[in-house]
Amino acid sequence: MAYENILLEIEDRTALLSINRPNALNALNADTLLDIKNAVLAIAEDPNVDVLIITGVGNKAFVAGADIAYMQKLPAMQARAFAILGQEVFRLIETMDKPVIAAVNGFALGGGCELSMACDIRLASDKALFGQPEVGLGITPGYGGTQRLPRLIGEGRAKELIYSAININADEAYRVGLVNHVYPAESLMAEAKKLAKIISGKAPLAVRLSKNQVTRGMQADIDTAMAIEADLFGLCFATEDQKEGMAAFVEKRKADFKCK
Ligand code: CAA
Repeated sequence: MAYENILLEIEDRTALLSINRPNALNALNADTLLDIKNAVLAIAEDPNVDVLIITGVGNKAFVAGADIAYMQKLPAMQARAFAILGQEVFRLIETMDKPVIAAVNGFALGGGCELSMACDIRLASDKALFGQPEVGLGITPGYGGTQRLPRLIGEGRAKELIYSAININADEAYRVGLVNHVYPAESLMAEAKKLAKIISGKAPLAVRLSKNQVTRGMQADIDTAMAIEADLFGLCFATEDQKEGMAAFVEKRKADFKCK
């Protein structure tokens, strides 16, 4: 499929999706959200891909938010639909089986911070800047920021960032647990690919079932979450990869996983 506002390449069982609107600091309009949606749907089904990395084109921005020029004149119901579209696309990223790494290479503001939070793992360049500047524009976050930020960094810190629209740098984002690692800008992508390669070297189906357990379990009560875990743990024993993984351990050799 041809995309207008993103670049998509696949290498080494890893898909790299780059938001490509550098003149608008990769801001998200409806067409870009639809490109992301179609790419994610394709990646979810692609047997050649185990891991998705999302980043922004250029060295300045991951995504500087939803497109303000696009939103400026929107009537209320269209604005609501624009929020729902972004929420759906980000939820698709969050709930698709394959793991998603955000390589945050610059501004991750508003919808950009929200996009990174829908990914499983956030790696940041030392130039990254995170924040929810919406209240400074007379609006609220609309792509899940009011829900994912408190879940990730706690309610008090999230409320402070959202109410004040204060941006935080990569070190502060690391300190509050918003990002897993901070790397020099020039090594961010290599580090993201290195992590993707480590993940794709494991049993792909087990990785996907693990994501399913965490994502569904985090939204459920503890007993339901444990039941999800036990069910999917049991399901692993119906796969060739469980037999191969355990045989390889016993025979002291590297496992050759097959279940894609
Ligand atoms: N939407 C549309 N265009 C944007 C944009 C955005 N979110 N962010 C930047 N741009 C555009 C600028 O308008 C500018 O375009 P022109 O060259 O045509 O004027 C270009 O990108 C470069 O931006 P700047 O000249 O402003 O670059 P800078 O380095 O001086 O500043 C910045 C960078 C601090 C990120 C600044 O651009 C900025 O504050 N951007 C807006 C950030 C923001 O408020 N994001 C939240 C949007 S609301 C949202 O996301 C709602 C939601 O939850 C769904």
